[in-house]
Amino acid sequence: MIDISMQYLGMNLSGPIVVASTPLSDSIDNVRHMEDAGASAIVLTSLFEEQLALESRALDEDLERGADSYPEVQHFLPEQNDYRMSHDVYLEHLRRACEAVKVPIMASLNGASTGGWVRYAKDVEQAGAKAIELNTFALATDRGQSSADIEQQLLTLVDSVCRAVKVPVAVKLSQSYTSIPHLAGQLEAAGARGVVLFNRFYQPDFDIEALEVRPTMHFSTPSELLPRLHWTAILYGHLKGDIGITGGVHSAEDVLKAIMAGGSVAMMVSALHIHGIDHIARVLADLRYWLEKREYTSLMETRGCLSRRSVPDTSPYDRGNYIKTLSSYSMRPTVAAF
Ligand SMILES: Cc1cc2nc3c(=O)[nH]c(=O)nc-3n(C[C@H](O)[C@H](O)[C@H](O)COP(=O)(O)O)c2cc1C
Repeated sequence: MIDISMQYLGMNLSGPIVVASTPLSDSIDNVRHMEDAGASAIVLTSLFEEQLALESRALDEDLERGADSYPEVQHFLPEQNDYRMSHDVYLEHLRRACEAVKVPIMASLNGASTGGWVRYAKDVEQAGAKAIELNTFALATDRGQSSADIEQQLLTLVDSVCRAVKVPVAVKLSQSYTSIPHLAGQLEAAGARGVVLFNRFYQPDFDIEALEVRPTMHFSTPSELLPRLHWTAILYGHLKGDIGITGGVHSAEDVLKAIMAGGSVAMMVSALHIHGIDHIARVLADLRYWLEKREYTSLMETRGCLSRRSVPDTSPYDRGNYIKTLSSYSMRPTVAAF
């Protein structure tokens, strides 16, 4: 049988498919189902900084500071009871998930500032999380805040979480940084054992009749994988830690692309919501078939083979792809007529 095991954050994983943070894993039956289908690790849904601040009187100060920072969006934030799990329920669920399966369970903490909520990293570690994924979604809406300020805030947060726990911490990053290679290096220096590329944004839409701004949610398509492949291919070989890819992974071909770019794992969520949890088993079967047909003995052999440092011509990863795509585009007659 072909070896598809991978290493991620110091953990030996049975395969490359990790279930990224999704409410599907809020059910222990689903967690078991994910393991049976071949998921090699599971990231639970996030505990949100805002939720933890709401829950803890001691963190009132943090909440007030948060409210001051984003006064215009306060009505968008959920009330305490709207979050799927309270902190205590989350820890209990984490314990039960760890008992229910052999694959590593990772906790997810989701926040942007370095408030007292960071102490919850210790709680999830004690509850059995084998690693922590830190989702650091933050938006720059204040013109007084520079890119350097935002990156420093992120680094301070990562440093304090990494200092608080012994388990590995991976940082789920936004794509909107000016120099991702530089930032990734600094995250590593701050203690991160890996980066997860990329956080998927859910931009609000406009209701032009009600003159309201509304949250939207849609599942991904494989085209969203491309920026992840691009940045993974650029980073591969320049980091000591691992790269997890999340966003647009739907098929065995997508998993192979993720590993060939240099990723250690390919994470899935939308495909599982669309096709069901058994989709993991189908993708793994397709993956094995593809590798066997081409006489690979392990998936690891393919890792990074299409990374920027492995290809003879790096221009597709630099301006070359952009220039070639735009300059060689020819309009079809129907489009030209329009
Ligand atoms: C319904 C739903 C809930 C999600 N909840 C979280 C969450 O709590 N924390 C988080 O970091 N990501 C969350 N995500 C993002 C996913 O973990 C994943 O990064 C994203 O969906 C991209 O992967 P995909 O293309 O396979 O869907 C959620 C995604 C979906 C669809």
